Order: sequence, then structure tokens, then C-alpha cells
Amino acid sequence: MKGVQTVGVVGAGVIGAGWAARALHCGLDVIVTDINSGMEAWLNETVDNASKMLAKLTEGIPMPVRGSLEFTTDLAAMARCTDFIQECVPENIELKRSVLGTISSRAASDVVIASSTSGFMPTDLQTGLDHPERILVGHPFNPVYLCPLVELVGGRQTCNVARGIARKFYEGMGMHVLAVRREVPGHIGDRLQEAMWREILHALNDDIATTSELDESIVYGPGLRWAAMGMNQLYMISGGSGGARHFMKQFGPALDFPWCHMKAPELTDELIDRFVEGTAEQAGGRSIRELETIRDECLVALQRVLASHDIGAGQALNRFRERMANPNSKQQA
Ligand SMILES: NC(=O)c1ccc[n+]([C@@H]2O[C@H](COP(=O)([O-])OP(=O)(O)OC[C@H]3O[C@@H](n4cnc5c(N)ncnc54)[C@H](O)[C@@H]3O)[C@@H](O)[C@H]2O)c1
Repeated sequence: MKGVQTVGVVGAGVIGAGWAARALHCGLDVIVTDINSGMEAWLNETVDNASKMLAKLTEGIPMPVRGSLEFTTDLAAMARCTDFIQECVPENIELKRSVLGTISSRAASDVVIASSTSGFMPTDLQTGLDHPERILVGHPFNPVYLCPLVELVGGRQTCNVARGIARKFYEGMGMHVLAVRREVPGHIGDRLQEAMWREILHALNDDIATTSELDESIVYGPGLRWAAMGMNQLYMISGGSGGARHFMKQFGPALDFPWCHMKAPELTDELIDRFVEGTAEQAGGRSIRELETIRDECLVALQRVLASHDIGAGQALNRFRERMANPNSKQQA
């Protein structure tokens, strides 16, 4: 399988545009395809915004010349002339299987095809396709251009060569690859987010808290520390001098308390309205683009601070800096 110079992105939505921006900034050429020709304008606008943030994030890192961006509505043509394909169409298994079917029948047999799926398992996506061994999941987090995490998940037929190519491709764009040991619906990150999301919907539905209060409970407390350390490490520290074992002893019994629901509440129109109206009020008249800019500037600043301590997502930025400064070092292989 050859090195990646031209990346194919299928679907020019939030995730596809994010992948395109990251790849372009890292010197790769990108061909984005979407059934909706109207998405070209959105893609260009999103890539422009993302590029400014990426420039801030990678300030001081010797970056290659930006790649070229092309847009087409012709899926098959894109598949024929790209070296790595990232699928980003909506989360619908029939749609994904149909799109992957077209791509896999047109792309060269050594082109790795990754799906951005939030929850489908790669085995369910690759079954029955041409050369299923090069199909896997590369699940990113929004915004793809700033969040370095990508969950790499192989299916029953995925080969190690394809996993290796995907890892090299993602790491070459400054990402942190989390190789998921066993495929499960929702991979790892979304299972954790989903558990919290369901609790949020229950609290909203049962009138325990507003969307704003629920968000306060995150950003002033646990959310602040999650960027540096994960839940497990933090709970160990919360155990004081007794560490993790003491923590388990103290909070273990709570597992039997009614602290959380596991099943999501019914998504009634009233609950949807409560969520929509609550978050609109929180936005205080700021547009999605304005909020996106605030989020992105915080993500850039946060990663640069984390990098100065070589912790959390800052480690991915430091590794990327080293890789770009020493392109021929072992890391690059
Ligand atoms: N939004 C997120 O936070 C997020 C995070 C991680 C992963 N994902 C996953 O990424 C994928 C894309 O999500 P999104 O939020 O970007 O969706 P989106 O709705 O914003 O964009 C999807 C795009 O795909 C296009 N499309 C639909 N059918 C197509 C086809 N047959 N050929 C080409 N293009 C087609 C649509 O026109 C649209 O522009 C989903 O699988 C989603 O689960 C989303």
C-alpha cells in the first residue's frame, strides 16, 4: 500500500469539512465529495475558519505548504484518484453501506477506507464489500481539526497493514490514535458521552435542572479537570493518601444508590423543546459560528497550556511538533 498524498472525504458536513481542514493544513491534497452541490460553499467557509485556528494551534511548528482542495459530486471519480478515503455521510447504516460499496468497487484495492461512524461496528460496514480487509473505523471528535483523538477500530476482516496505514495517516496529522481493542457499538468515547447525555436528558425531563445549570455542573467542576486527566486518574487522586483503593471503598457503595438511570427518557416534543429553548437562551444571541469561534479559541489555548505541561491532548501537539521538526526520525515511520 502506498503513502498518502491525496485524501478523499465523503460528505462535506461538520465532520467531513473538519477532516478536510486538518489534512490540508498538514500538506495533503483533499478531494471532498457530497451529493449536495450546495455544500461546497459551506465547506470552503468552514475550512477557512478552521485554517485560522490550526495556524494558531501549530504556531512555531514547521508546517508543510498547505494542500489543494477540490470539491465534486462524483463519488466514483473521487474514489478512483485518492490514496486514503474518510467516509463522513450521515449515521445511517444502509446509506453508509451503499456509499462504502461504491467506493470499495472503484478505489484501488490498496486504498484504506475509514468510516467516521459514531457508533456502527466495522464488521457490520465491511461485510460483503470489495477488499473488506482495508475497511475500518476512524472515529474523530468534533471539531476534527482541533480535537486530536481518533478511535481506530478494526472489524473481523480488517488486516494489520490497513490498521498500520491508518495509524500513520492520523499520526501524520498530529492526532492521537486510540486503538480500540474490541469493536462494540459506540466504540469507547461515545459510550461514555452517551451515558452522561442520557442523564442530562433525564434531569431536563424531570425538571431537576435547566440546560444552563447542567452545563454549569460540568464547566466549573469536572469539565475543567477532564482536559488534563481522565476520570480514572482523577478518582485515584480524589482518594487522597489512600488513593484508588480508598476511593473505591468510599464511593463503591454509591453504585447501589439511585444516582443514575441507564435507560434514556422518551424523547417527547416537550423534552426536545426544553433542550432547544434552554441552549438558545444560553447562547445569548450569539450565532453558531460565533460560539464555534469561542470554543475553538479555548481549545487552542487549552492545548498550548497542556503542551507546556506535556499532559493530556498537549502531548499529541508536542509529538506532532517533534515529528514536523525531525521528519526523518523513527516516529515518522
Ligand atoms: N457531528 C459530530 O459531532 C460527529 C462526531 C464524530 C463522528 N460523527 C460521525 O460522522 C459522520 C458525519 O456526521 P456529520 O455530523 O458531519 O453529518 P452532516 O449531516 O453534518 O454531514 C453529512 C454530509 O453527508 C452528505 N451526504 C449524504 N449522503 C451522501 C452520499 N450518498 N454521498 C455523499 N455525501 C452524502 C450530506 O449532504 C451532508 O453534507 C456520521 O457518521 C456521524 O455519526 C459525527
